[in-house]
Amino acid sequence: ALPLILDCDPGHDDAIALVLALASPELSLKAVTSSAGNQTPEKTLRNVLRMLTLLGRSDIPVAGGAAKPLMRELIIADNVHGESGLDGPALPEPGFAAQNCTAVELMAKVLRECEEPVTIVATGPQTNVALLLNSHPELRPNIARIVMMGGAMGLGNWTPAAEFNIFVDPEAAEIVFQSGLPIVMAGLDVTHRAQIMASDIERFRAIGNPVAVTVAELLDFFMEYHKADKWSFQGAPLHDPCTIAWLLKPEIFTTVERWVGVETQGKYTQGMTVVDYYFLTGKAPNTTLIVDLNREAFVDLLAERLTYYSKA
Ligand code: BDR
Ligand code: CA
Repeated sequence: ALPLILDCDPGHDDAIALVLALASPELSLKAVTSSAGNQTPEKTLRNVLRMLTLLGRSDIPVAGGAAKPLMRELIIADNVHGESGLDGPALPEPGFAAQNCTAVELMAKVLRECEEPVTIVATGPQTNVALLLNSHPELRPNIARIVMMGGAMGLGNWTPAAEFNIFVDPEAAEIVFQSGLPIVMAGLDVTHRAQIMASDIERFRAIGNPVAVTVAELLDFFMEYHKADKWSFQGAPLHDPCTIAWLLKPEIFTTVERWVGVETQGKYTQGMTVVDYYFLTGKAPNTTLIVDLNREAFVDLLAERLTYYSKA
């Protein structure tokens, strides 16, 4: 199975990415680290522990990440994810504790000990991953690829130009994009097409096991924010699970290879991912951008994997 580290800021869609990863025998989740983003670092760490407790996976090592972005104050998305960061379902209290080390130390330990290169999936701001790359250059060969949810080719969802994860810590994201490591980016181009409709939520709920019902309740809450007319969505864009779904079924996604840089200064464009779509700079592509998907196949994959928890 593909060894994996998940760095996340749960967050409704982060939590569902975790559910998907742990229902997938193709993947071997070695550690979960929390980033500050959707909520404060204390709350996102607590949410990782609550989710793993629900999933009965207290065997997975967890560590809390940086308290704030590299060079900025933290911005949170409590307007999207609520006071707890995972508002909606009644989740259990954490049934176990995080490791007594930082997210970077835990990621470094996994990279050092794993027999093959490890894939890092980052579904929050890139702070922890950037700190890892800067503090452990010797471990770069042990990273197979970094798959992130963040950015877009043109749209923003936090400002007109910027997606939330990149906007929160643009300096960290720029370190990751320019690292020379294989980068896979699931930006809003694909995630806004990965919409979950009300009927999909009922399909998940009907699977009936406690995890599937929790996922449906997470989506009930997540749906509310996305109902506003400004989005003109029919459902809720399920951003973060696109990363895991791409690892599982790349054939249901469309990708392009391009150079990407992050705007850290712009008057209107801070946190924008600048994509050299027409090869204007002469720079070699540094990123595989996931730009489209077969939505029905994505929903089928989620539904199929949720049935795993009926057997577990
Ligand atoms: C991203 O921001 C967060 O609110 C979500 O969890 C996702 O990672 C979407 O812009
Ligand atoms: Ca997230």
